[in-house]
Amino acid sequence: MVTVEICMGSSCFMRGSGEVVEVLKAILSARGLEQKVVLKGCFCMERCTNGVTMRIGDRVFSQVHKEDVPRLFEDEILPVLEQGPF
Ligand code: FES
Repeated sequence: MVTVEICMGSSCFMRGSGEVVEVLKAILSARGLEQKVVLKGCFCMERCTNGVTMRIGDRVFSQVHKEDVPRLFEDEILPVLEQGPF
């Protein structure tokens, strides 16, 4: 199980946090992983920059754009899921 928190603060929201969520949901759905990744919204993480802030497990990523989500999934989420056990 991996927890992904996506900032829904005003700055991140204006910069596309909703789109980031939708792209990630689509990836999880296509791979049948909705039950293994917990998606949460969160308040401002005080890293307001030119993009969205998200936390994957204990790691925080800033300046995320929807185009970055597939790479983050492959590099940061999938490896944790593959480590198991679940
Ligand atoms: S609004 Fe997202 S980090 Fe501040």
